[in-house]
Formats: sequence, structure tokens, C-alpha cells
Amino acid sequence: MTSLAKPQVPGQVKHYLQFADLTREEYDYLLKRSAWLKAKFKSYETWHPLHDRTLAMIFEKHSTRTRLSFEAGIHQLGGHAVYLNTRDTQLGRGEPVEDAAQVISRMTDIIMIRTFGQEIIERFASNSRVPVINGLTNEYHPCQVLADIFTYVEARGPIQGKTVAWVGDANNMAYTWIQAAECLDFQLRFSAPEGYQLDPARLSSKATKHLTICADPKDACKGADLVTTDVWTSMGYEAENTLRMNAFKDWMVDEELMALAKPNALFMHCLPAHRGEEVSAGVIDGPQSIVWEEAENRLHVQKALMEYLLCGRLD
Ligand code: CP
Ligand code: NVA
Repeated sequence: MTSLAKPQVPGQVKHYLQFADLTREEYDYLLKRSAWLKAKFKSYETWHPLHDRTLAMIFEKHSTRTRLSFEAGIHQLGGHAVYLNTRDTQLGRGEPVEDAAQVISRMTDIIMIRTFGQEIIERFASNSRVPVINGLTNEYHPCQVLADIFTYVEARGPIQGKTVAWVGDANNMAYTWIQAAECLDFQLRFSAPEGYQLDPARLSSKATKHLTICADPKDACKGADLVTTDVWTSMGYEAENTLRMNAFKDWMVDEELMALAKPNALFMHCLPAHRGEEVSAGVIDGPQSIVWEEAENRLHVQKALMEYLLCGRLD
């Protein structure tokens, strides 16, 4: 088996900090590899390419799916996970991110971080001797969109040329979907209320070819292949909750909006969801919803990602 030799040098390590960090060819490989790993998992076949490897998981925000899927995933690949959070570690007492990265990356083989600003994970990664994976920042959530794309492809075939409707906040998920549309060549229609629009400074000049801004969520959903949304108030923005509840009230994905999409359109939500806010119970619990498969697929795509970052291509 091929394997990247230690010790690695900070600055020369492959990280996954945003969706744009991998190419379309790499995603083609990861999607195939995720399906292969999923089939192995379903048939209880042992596959331990990461035997004796340690994953450090650093959480500065809450999580259910991300923690569980990374921890179960590294275990299933033959490795082991260490859970760290800000409350119990020196990170919560002001130890510089750069120093933490030097130390943690000398004792482990791969690191997953969920934190606030993207600059924190970037500073960590530039001082890390091992691959760093973004498990959610204020700006991006690439592992989730990787799982979403895999889920779409598994259910409906290639996403290239398809139309995805984003109804909701210009948050970490929305910006990651925009990067995915650019990388994998599909159309993203974005609709959010006034005051919660995308920041043009964060959009690449190429992104606009794959992005349509719709003032009315109905226009975003018309003829879409996939409708997706997320909470109106992301972690870290709780102080804005009351304002947001009012601003977003017409941006709920309900049966009426879903009916405008293609008859075989799917509904996705990264979860956790608030029924009666960003999505109606009828939609998330209805026949077009694929949210449970989407959540499960976090496990399979992240196993493919960890294997790829540590061992390269294995087929
Ligand atoms: N979707 C997602 O990342 O879920 P958690 O916050 O539970 O990890
Ligand atoms: N946008 C949400 C995603 C949670 C998985 C948040 O950042 O809180």
C-alpha cells in the first residue's frame, strides 16, 4: 500500500480546508471510492488502511454528525480518534493556534477541526505536519457538501449540468455549494432576504457563471433538481436570532416551494433542522427528502477523504 512517509513539513502537506482545495478529478475519485467504502461497510468487510493512525478531532462548536462520523470512520479504517475541545484543552486558555498545531501534529497523523473563523484553521494548517480537515468554520463546511454531492449522485446520477436551489442564509453551507458548483459544473440558484445576501468580495470571478441570485425563492426552486436549505441562525450568530426569525420567515422550504421543482427533485438539509422555520415538517419528512441518507453519507465520504489524504489513490 502506498503511504506518505513521515515526518512531513508544514507548508508541504495536503489539507482539506475548503471545497476548492480539490480538483474535479480528485472528486471523481473520491465519489467512486466513497461508494466502494460504503459497500464494504454494509457487508462488514474489514478494511484497515489507516491501521495505527491517530485522528485528532478539535471542536470549538457543538456537533453530533461530524464527531460521530469522523470517530466511527477512523475506527473502521483501522485507526483511532482523540476528541479535544476548547473547554478542556489549553486552546481554551489562549495557547496560540500555531503552537497547538506544531504539538498536535507531531503526535497524530491527521487532524479535523471545527472552529469559528476560517483564518484560524488556515493558521493551524500552515503549522501542521499532517493533513488538516475542515469540520466546519463560519465560512465553509466542505465535508458536508461532499456528502451531499455523493448523496445526489448515488440517487440520481451525475450532478454536472443540474440545478441546485439554495433557499436561505448566505452561510458556510451556501458558500461551499457555490464552490462545488464551480468545481463540478452545475448551476446554483441562491435566494435569501434583503440584508442577508452573499458578499460579492467572497465570490470568485468564475463563480458567477454557475450562480444565479433570485430575489424570490420561488424563482430559485422552479425546475430545480435539488432544493436545499439550512438553519436561519448558524452557530456563532445566536445574538441575531430574533432579527433573523423575522427576516427569513418567507424563506421556508414548504410543499408549495417544493412543488415548483422538478417532479423527481430531492430535498436536502445538512441537519440539525428546525421544522416550521427553514423547512416544513411535510417536506423534511416527505417523500422527496433524502436527509437521512445525506447524514449517513458523511461517514462514507470522510473515510474516503481521510484515506486519500494519508495514502493517496489506492485503486
Ligand atoms: N451537519 C453537521 O455538520 O452536523 P453536526 O453539527 O451535528 O456535526
Ligand atoms: N450552518 C450551520 C451548519 C450546522 C451543521 C452552522 O454553522 O451552524
